[in-house]
Amino acid sequence: MAEFMLLERNNLILGRMLKLDKITKYYETTESNIRRLVLDELSLEITKGDRIAILGPSGSGKSTLLNVMSSLDLPNSGTVKFDDEEISSYNSNQLAQFRNKKIGFVFQAHHLLPQLSLLENVLLPYLPEKDRAVKKEAEKRALHLLDFVGLSNQIHQRPGQMSGGECQRAAVVRALIHEPKLLLADEPTGSLDKASADQLAKLFVRINEEQGVTMVVVTHSQDLAEHMKRICRIENGKIKE
Ligand SMILES: Nc1ncnc2c1ncn2[C@@H]1O[C@H](COP(=O)(O)OP(=O)(O)OP(=O)(O)O)[C@@H](O)[C@H]1O
Ligand SMILES: [Mg+2]
Repeated sequence: MAEFMLLERNNLILGRMLKLDKITKYYETTESNIRRLVLDELSLEITKGDRIAILGPSGSGKSTLLNVMSSLDLPNSGTVKFDDEEISSYNSNQLAQFRNKKIGFVFQAHHLLPQLSLLENVLLPYLPEKDRAVKKEAEKRALHLLDFVGLSNQIHQRPGQMSGGECQRAAVVRALIHEPKLLLADEPTGSLDKASADQLAKLFVRINEEQGVTMVVVTHSQDLAEHMKRICRIENGKIKE
């Protein structure tokens, strides 16, 4: 008991951010009626400031795990706690709010809109915003972040006029524009050459160290994984560190 309390206290001091406890996730295929177990009582704790790589073969459940972390997908059983609040019990409004406020997502395909400029793409989440002061602040942040990732000379260019690496960095800026606590990236270097992948890996390190953003990065790249502080592997639905 004393040991348990000490552990709990250490977690508070270290600042636990996300705790996945015995997460089980399966998919039912309608044609064959077979259940495909993807996450099997998987447990994982992420502390504030962590920088984690998730590795694992194709189909092992990496994207599924990120989706559960961000509440885009709900587990069949187990609990997800963020800042010690159980998000698995939120209703859909609360979940949407949670994601908008706390999570930044970088997808493998950058999903930038071709008809918008770089700056407009980054500010897209603020398009419906009515408050002009809030909009102005967001624009200031966007310009600062675009400068941080080395894209300040291209803010009026469209994605079609940018390289793959530049688009990927732009997607990172868009994921950071609302100042999320946790950045989740799904194979962000998947389509990049070695030099651009290396540049993006270094950028992740700086975002973590200088902006204090906690991050989980799914990757097939050993190079990118080596830039992270922790390396986790998914095997048979469970995490191995
Ligand atoms: N919506 C779904 N319905 C049914 N099965 C699914 C669904 N999404 C994923 N799966 C299955 O769950 C397993 C894990 O998928 P997931 O996308 O998490 O793998 P992954 O590790 O991200 O793979 P990759 O490296 O190829 O991206 C796969 O076998 C996949 O076919
Ligand atoms: Mg995937």
